[in-house]
Amino acid sequence: MAKTICVTNQKGGVAKTTTSNAIGLGFKKKGYKVLLIDLDPQGNLSFSVKAEVDESATIYDVLKGDVSVHDAIQKTEIIDIIPSNIILSGVDLEFTHTGREFLLKEALSSVQNEYDYIVIDTPPSLNILTINAFAVADCIIIPMLADIFSLQGITQLYETITRVKKYCNPAIKIEGILLTRYNPRLILSSEIRETAEMIAQQLGTTIFDTYIRASVSIQEVHTQQEDMYKYASRNNAVKDYMNFVKELITRGI
Ligand SMILES: Nc1ncnc2c1ncn2[C@@H]1O[C@H](COP(=O)(O)OP(=O)(O)OP(=O)(O)O)[C@@H](O)[C@H]1O
Ligand SMILES: [Mg+2]
Repeated sequence: MAKTICVTNQKGGVAKTTTSNAIGLGFKKKGYKVLLIDLDPQGNLSFSVKAEVDESATIYDVLKGDVSVHDAIQKTEIIDIIPSNIILSGVDLEFTHTGREFLLKEALSSVQNEYDYIVIDTPPSLNILTINAFAVADCIIIPMLADIFSLQGITQLYETITRVKKYCNPAIKIEGILLTRYNPRLILSSEIRETAEMIAQQLGTTIFDTYIRASVSIQEVHTQQEDMYKYASRNNAVKDYMNFVKELITRGI
């Protein structure tokens, strides 16, 4: 059975996609079989691993029941992924039937035995797509920037996860908060870290030991659509992500 990890935070630009890409490729580098799911209509994760999204089947077709998961998986030169594109943005209005929270879970059941890890990138919102991700996830990773605005909205996220736990997925666990684009030398960063630790406690979770340092060239790796561990292995953020993958494995994830 694959371990399903959902990377989420309804706040935009906190490095959800970068983290999904990094842990997916990191597990793969460690020899595990990994499937990425792009559940964001922006399609950033798909782009980052060179998936084709204009002609090919996407996660939208899978959720709709038109295409099987197997037919939607793209094996790019970088990794296996079910991509997405902007059509996915209509699902909140389009899927109104009972059981719509479990569409992704039902779809993924047929590939659970083919992968060690399934990593789901989510959009910057709390909607039916995010709920679908929570309904199938074993655990949740919350990337967060060390700034004061990041602390807002966390309560709403927590309430949603709590409702999903009650009604859809009792086994779900918030594995931890990952501080991203972190500058350990800034006093503000360490103050926020303390606040973040308090929040983590309220969420019944912890801050991961590893944090991801800010690094400009990580953006270049994304735009060049390359594997960060191959093309930027000496970059600080990339080193941090590899340590993060090790931390996850040590935690038994
Ligand atoms: N460690 C880092 N250092 C510097 N820049 C980073 C780092 N991690 C991510 N970024 C940059 O921050 C921006 C946002 O990252 P990313 O797209 O991963 O966030 P996101 O949470 O997925 O955004 P969205 O909410 O729009 O989906 C990108 O330009 C990315 O390259
Ligand atoms: Mg994103």
